[in-house]
Amino acid sequence: MKRFACEAFKKEMRLRVDFNNMMSGFVKGGITPEELEANAAAYEAAAKGMDEKRGSMKWRELPFNQDEVIKAINAKAKDIRDNFDDFVVLGIGGSALGPIAVHQALCHLRYNDLPSERRGGPRLFIEDNIDPERMESLFEVIDVEHTMFNVITKSGSTSETMSQLLLVTNILREKLGDGWTGHVVATTDHSKGNLIKISKEFGLDTFYVPDGVGGRFSELCPVGLLAAAVCGIDIEELLAGAGYMDEICRTHDIWHNPAYMMAALQMKAVEKGCNINVMMPYADSLKYMADWFAQLWAESLGKAVHTDGSTAHTGQTPVKSLGVTDQHSQVQLYTEGPFDKVITFIGVDKYRSTVEIPHAYDSIPDVAFLSGHTFNELIKCEQFATEYAVRKSGHMNCTVTLPEVNAFTVGQLLCLFQLETAFAGELLGINAFDQPGVEEGKNATYALLGKHGYDEKKKELDAAPKKEARYII
Ligand code: PA5
Repeated sequence: MKRFACEAFKKEMRLRVDFNNMMSGFVKGGITPEELEANAAAYEAAAKGMDEKRGSMKWRELPFNQDEVIKAINAKAKDIRDNFDDFVVLGIGGSALGPIAVHQALCHLRYNDLPSERRGGPRLFIEDNIDPERMESLFEVIDVEHTMFNVITKSGSTSETMSQLLLVTNILREKLGDGWTGHVVATTDHSKGNLIKISKEFGLDTFYVPDGVGGRFSELCPVGLLAAAVCGIDIEELLAGAGYMDEICRTHDIWHNPAYMMAALQMKAVEKGCNINVMMPYADSLKYMADWFAQLWAESLGKAVHTDGSTAHTGQTPVKSLGVTDQHSQVQLYTEGPFDKVITFIGVDKYRSTVEIPHAYDSIPDVAFLSGHTFNELIKCEQFATEYAVRKSGHMNCTVTLPEVNAFTVGQLLCLFQLETAFAGELLGINAFDQPGVEEGKNATYALLGKHGYDEKKKELDAAPKKEARYII
């Protein structure tokens, strides 16, 4: 029996959300229980909305409905692990940030630098930018003949990803002729877009992004699962963790629903002028969770209109931070700056390593006080001290704690934030699942590069105000 099937393990690994420091008893201007109670009807309506829309929020079912997909992914991952030195993901936004975050969380922190026998699988490169220098540099460190490429685009049309595919196809064809198709796995929509056409025409191995699973909600489908499995991550445990959190978060009672409570608190904080949401993990392994969350929160909640068509301009700006590193760059602002932000700390009870701070300069007390402690104690003390300083200065903050970083807890974390975001969308009365602002930029790019069917957009761009020389110095 796998450990995640055991109730004691689940209980031991359950995430904790501590929102004491959001509340009025702890910070001046904080939220009162009465304010939350006064909003009870809105929370109930939003919770009902979440239930009613569950059928369309297909990402919520991913922990429960992928038995066959998991088998296929694990089989493909084994083949890649056995036969390739490098695995390169081509994708951007929701097709890259989840795989990056989960890899960083669950693999060795210097995974690519390990000898291959310790890695047990290929090196991983996730190419989510099209900087030409970066593209060229990739081919200087990989040997394409021993590399598998996973091209991921749900829409099958994103210019960045399709350009990368064109480049890779060309390079592979030159080296391998028709054999190039054995070096590309596609992950895309089962019927829409251009990648599925290419995939069918050339017989590429293909995984599908299910309907109702938008880019930023897609980590727990093949978008994220293939790269994770290739790097040796137990994807069943990851999904089990997400499923566990989904079950915890089914209650309508926000006092027992961590995702709904976090969303309710953040939206109350916005009403009080906190338009910035800083995520500050105290673990390098969770560093890119803040990047993944930034997209989830920003793209989902930054909307110009409500679902009824009225003007909205909603959203709370996500900021990425890392404990303890950013204590030495950002915390001055978070303690003494304006009361416009909430800090969400992410802590870990038990790090996967214990490192002692040895004795060396016992004759210098101001250095020697560190000796005999561990780095684990030091980072925990600094997290506690920063929470204390932020609270003392009157700034709202909350803490999500993982008992340890493993596939089960990371699955919970992903699900927690996805549900928090969706519930916040319900409270705001906006569509959290589209991204018209992103589409606008994509369409303008198509027009600038002369894509068929974008003539009107090109005219619109040509008619835009011309830059004036006097404003460029
Ligand atoms: O969340 C989203 O939908 C977007 O950020 C997309 O993930 C991003 O634009 C990439 O799109 P695609 O996967 O279609 O290439």
